[in-house]
Amino acid sequence: MAGAAGEAAQGRFVSSKVESTQTVGEALFSAASKLQSLATGRRDAELLLMRVVGRDRAWLMTHADAGLTSEQLAHFEDWVARRARQEPVQYILGETEFYGLMMRVTPAVLIPRPETEHLVEAVLARVGCDAAARICDVGAGSGAIAVALAHALPLAQVTAVDLSTAALAVAKENAERHGVAERVRLVESDLLSALRGERFDVVVSNPPYVAEGEVLEAQVREYEPREALFAGPTGLEVYRRLIPEAWEALVPEGWLLMEMGHGQREALAGLLTGWDGVEFVADLQGIPRVAIAQRRA
Ligand SMILES: C[S@@+](CC[C@H](N)C(=O)[O-])C[C@H]1O[C@@H](n2cnc3c(N)ncnc32)[C@H](O)[C@@H]1O
Repeated sequence: MAGAAGEAAQGRFVSSKVESTQTVGEALFSAASKLQSLATGRRDAELLLMRVVGRDRAWLMTHADAGLTSEQLAHFEDWVARRARQEPVQYILGETEFYGLMMRVTPAVLIPRPETEHLVEAVLARVGCDAAARICDVGAGSGAIAVALAHALPLAQVTAVDLSTAALAVAKENAERHGVAERVRLVESDLLSALRGERFDVVVSNPPYVAEGEVLEAQVREYEPREALFAGPTGLEVYRRLIPEAWEALVPEGWLLMEMGHGQREALAGLLTGWDGVEFVADLQGIPRVAIAQRRA
């Protein structure tokens, strides 16, 4: 993110002495009405204004009469206009929270989703905290999964692969930000092809799994990277390649854990024939979200 908006996103907001004509409450009211067509419009307006003024939500709620400087108001209005054009609030702010950690995000990476935290939990449930596990995250994107796992497992060695060099640069930033860069190796690779001959205890992946032609929300379709979302005509194309590659890369009894899309359970169960202990973990809405399988000994 470049320019004044980028500086504000990083909290280096330069405050001007020139008062604008709007208070916090008025600016929020006006923004919420511009964003009213969005389900999260009011909340997004609050998040953006919190960043512009460098205060938390409690401060906003108790300082409706506080004046904004004209510079603050200009930044806020610029961000609200971007949000009104459906740009995700996470890209505007340049970061989002995942598994309790703030992660840098840019339009080069998928915005990590709360559902993906189930995948991290499923890995942690299978790997002891004191285990020196070798973990490979395939399709690392922002590095959210790899960094969260390295952070939670102080002895683990994590390899994070992605086809996108721009995504790997973001993953590097996140690994450094959370002090795990020495244990997160970043590799540009088409799935596991660059790691032939290496062995892992765990292969974890949130791969592209959307079928071409599937209708997505405008803010996803227009702003998030296509290569992070779409797998091919059926949505199963990446799984079809990843599952046999993971078998080759895993040690006997090693674990494969993958995020999955709505309605893919039956097809994935078929693709995992020959694996042990195949199970599917549902998200909070009861939708199967994580496919888990163990390589036979
Ligand atoms: C759904 S995103 C997941 C990003 C991140 N792991 C997360 O959960 O937020 C899928 C990622 O896989 C990457 N990808 C797509 N095809 C790939 C391939 N053949 N080999 C490696 N990475 C791939 C994309 O660039 C994207 O970063």
